[in-house]
Amino acid sequence: MDLIPAPRSVVAGSDEVRLTAHSQLYAGPGTEGVGRWLRTVLWAAAGLPLREGRELDDTDGDGIGLLLDPRLGPEEYRLVSDPAGVLIEGGSAAGVFWGAQTLRQLLGPAAYRKAAVELDRTWAVPHLTIEDSPRFAWRGLMLDVARHFMPKEGVLRYLDLMAAHKLNVFHFHLTDDQGWRIRIERYPRLTEVGSWRTRTKFGHRASPLWEEKPHGGFYTQDDIREIVAYAAERHITVVPEIDVPGHSQAAIAAYPELGNTDVIDTTSLTVWDSWGISPNVLAPTDNTLRFYEGVFEEVLGLFPSEFVHIGGDECRKDQWRASPAAQARIKELGLADEDELQSWFIGHFAKWLSARGRRLIGWDEILEGGIAEGAAVSSWRGYGGGIAAARAGHDVVMCPEQHVYLDHRQAAGADEPVPIGFVRTLEDVYRFDPVPPGLDESQARRILGTQANVWTEVMEDHARVDYQAFPRLAAFAEVAWSTLPAPGERDFAGFERRMAAHYRRLDALGVAYRPPAGPLPWQQRPGVPGRPIDGPPPNR
Ligand code: ACM
Repeated sequence: MDLIPAPRSVVAGSDEVRLTAHSQLYAGPGTEGVGRWLRTVLWAAAGLPLREGRELDDTDGDGIGLLLDPRLGPEEYRLVSDPAGVLIEGGSAAGVFWGAQTLRQLLGPAAYRKAAVELDRTWAVPHLTIEDSPRFAWRGLMLDVARHFMPKEGVLRYLDLMAAHKLNVFHFHLTDDQGWRIRIERYPRLTEVGSWRTRTKFGHRASPLWEEKPHGGFYTQDDIREIVAYAAERHITVVPEIDVPGHSQAAIAAYPELGNTDVIDTTSLTVWDSWGISPNVLAPTDNTLRFYEGVFEEVLGLFPSEFVHIGGDECRKDQWRASPAAQARIKELGLADEDELQSWFIGHFAKWLSARGRRLIGWDEILEGGIAEGAAVSSWRGYGGGIAAARAGHDVVMCPEQHVYLDHRQAAGADEPVPIGFVRTLEDVYRFDPVPPGLDESQARRILGTQANVWTEVMEDHARVDYQAFPRLAAFAEVAWSTLPAPGERDFAGFERRMAAHYRRLDALGVAYRPPAGPLPWQQRPGVPGRPIDGPPPNR
């Protein structure tokens, strides 16, 4: 059956259910949305009409039934295929949806196509019983649409790819030095000015090359509503990230008063065309706080997620050190230094969000200078920030760059398209454990889950994103969903065997993954300066 991610238990039978033009689909109370999704997908791929059953008995023998079973955990499901037909029961609609994703895998790669390619084939589900539930509640993918814009259709496609891998949190990195990608109605210049740059560094940050053409784009608020609704239909939560107080050069280029005007002439700043960490950070003024409250008011209106990501990473503090206004602010607030100034800034929004029923999450730098009560941490610089946060009673999403930064190269040598960062092979990702040793049980419960991060400095289009993300995202999905043995005891050979079937699914989905044997000639990019060294990523 070669399921990915591997389910908790499978008991195989000896016959099969054959879906036909007469098969019915019954979606019980609370599962109607999953029914609509399954009918749409199978109509497209198989031309099966799956007429609406009025009761479970209508599915007898050759149909599909969907039901809630409150005895199951929230995302747990049971899939039974037997002489009565196929029945998927879940603890919630999400559980039923993950079961429906498993059913799609059981139907074979053609079930992933958008039109039927073999009209007279049989669509069979082997007799079996699958019992399954996720290890982690947060199974995330972060996509950076700031460094390279991904048009809306590409984002919707990624939500489908996530759903196919039972990933359920889409961390949407919407703003950075190189672009502001979400329309904010009260501040139109954020996208009028901040969403375009005139040229773009080509390759990693030390490359001498630029691509001399404008790059940009942004999502309207209706685009965002569509993305959020499309995700919700797939039981994916979208967590927006507005990155402050660093990574803000595009915003300062649009509204120069947001910058440290007593240090530099911010009116001459443009949206950044290079990679690395920009020295331009937000000024810690009341004006900046009010401005971003305005931004977040619109963001909260668009994204219903409990968590809102505020960035907080890689904030260079040289301008604050040089700014008389920032230094006066430190004194006035009785703070010790610039780290505490950043904590004050982030803490302001932690309180602001919590007064509105939301929770702040930030990169692990928000631990420096003191972290606000109730805030959660995305641990990216290794396990350390996450361990410290969990010990201090904060929730954690583990996404260490040493393991799950998918912009990093997938093999040693210079053959990767832009061979930056650590070498992290498919096997390395498969052996990643989101819960580090040394946490006691209550601390380990603070690890909400894990997330793979896709930074797009060196990925200018969706084919490059596909290449970096796949096949590693399939290994990551199994790490996030399945309860696997300790990293050293994992059956990677078995995973690779199942991947043979999974590559056929990815082919049907049109995913431009890295082939197991290495890059194809068209995927190699001779002349693009890479940097085949190990160590901290040279691209940011
Ligand atoms: C990060 O990679 N700067 C979170």
